[in-house]
Amino acid sequence: MLQRIESIKEELKKLNPVNQDDVEKIRIHLLGKKGLVTLLFEDFRNVSKEEKKNLGQVINTLKNEVQEKIDTWKQSLSSNAKRETNIDLTLNEPNQEFGTRHPISLIKNELYETFKKLGFTIYEGPEIEDDWHVFSALNFPEEHPARDMQDTFFIEKNPDILLRTHTSSVQVRSMEREKLPIRVVCPGRVFRNEAISARAHCIFHQIEGLYIDKNVSFADLKQTLLYFAREIFGEETQIRLRPSFFPFTEPSAEMDVSCKLCGGIGCSVCKYTGWLEVLGCGMVDPNVLELNNIDSKVYSGFAFGMGLERIAMLKYQVKDLRLYFENDVRFLNQFKNY
Ligand code: PHE
Repeated sequence: MLQRIESIKEELKKLNPVNQDDVEKIRIHLLGKKGLVTLLFEDFRNVSKEEKKNLGQVINTLKNEVQEKIDTWKQSLSSNAKRETNIDLTLNEPNQEFGTRHPISLIKNELYETFKKLGFTIYEGPEIEDDWHVFSALNFPEEHPARDMQDTFFIEKNPDILLRTHTSSVQVRSMEREKLPIRVVCPGRVFRNEAISARAHCIFHQIEGLYIDKNVSFADLKQTLLYFAREIFGEETQIRLRPSFFPFTEPSAEMDVSCKLCGGIGCSVCKYTGWLEVLGCGMVDPNVLELNNIDSKVYSGFAFGMGLERIAMLKYQVKDLRLYFENDVRFLNQFKNY
C-alpha cells in the first residue's frame, strides 16, 4: 500500500492541467468513486490494526494534499479562463498598414520645397484677426464688398474681430515685424462664408507669397511663377497672365497654367480652353507699402496667393473639393505613391 501511495504522490507532481476540464478529470481519477485515493480508503479497511495507525495518517495527508492541489488549480485556471478563450497566442499579428499623407499636406510640402529653393521662408500668423490686418492695411476701401457679412465670418463688430478670409493678413504681419528685404510664403487656413459645393468650401487652405526689396519688377514675379508652375505641374507647363483686380496689388493678374491632360488642345477638365486658373498675383500697391511704413519710392514688391485645394485638385485630378474634408480612407489611400 505504501508503494501505491508513493506512486500517487509521484503522479501528482507531474500533473499540469491547462483548463478546468483537465482539473475535473484529475479529480475523478484520484478522488472520484473509483479514484486511486478513494480505493486506498477502501483497502484501508482490510489492513491490520498495527498498520492502521500509521497508514491512516499517511492516507489522510495524501487526500488533503490532493484536494488542496485541485482547489488551487481550479482557482488559478478560472481567473485565466476569459483571457484564454479570447486570445490565441499562436496567431500571426495582423498586417499593420501605414497611413498616407493627406493630399493637402503633400502639396503644401511640395510648395515649401519649391519656394525654399527661391529663398522664401515660411511665415505664419493667427486665424482670428482684426479688420486692420485682413482689410485696412491691404488698401480695401471702407465699403469694399469683401468686408461684407456675406463673405466674412465676424466674431465681434466694432471693433471688428473676424476669421481671416485670406493669408494676406500674415503678409501684413511680416511687414510690421521683419526687416527689409522680405521674402516669405504664408500658409494657413482661411474662412469664407460660402455655400459648400464641389468647387467651394467655407474653410480652405492658402499659401501666399510676398517679396519686397529694391527694384523688384513684374519680370521677377513672372519668373518666380513660371518656376513654381514647372516644379509643381511639370517641365512642359506654360503660364499665362491675365489682367485682374485686387485692392492690394497694382497691376494685378490672374495666372493660368496650360492643361496637362490635353496638352492645351482643350478637354472637359479645362473646359475646352486649354488653360487652368491657378492663382492671383500682382505688384504690391504703393498704398499698401505706405500703410505698412515702407517707403514706396525706394522699395517695390510682388505678391501672389493660391488655394491649396485647387492646386491639389488640378495636380491629382480630384473633381470634388469636399473629398478633402471627409477623410474617407478609400480616398486617402490613393495618395500612397506620392
Ligand atoms: N489674397 C488673394 C485671395 O485671397 C490672393 C492674392 C494674393 C492676390 C496676393 C494677389 C496677390 O484671393
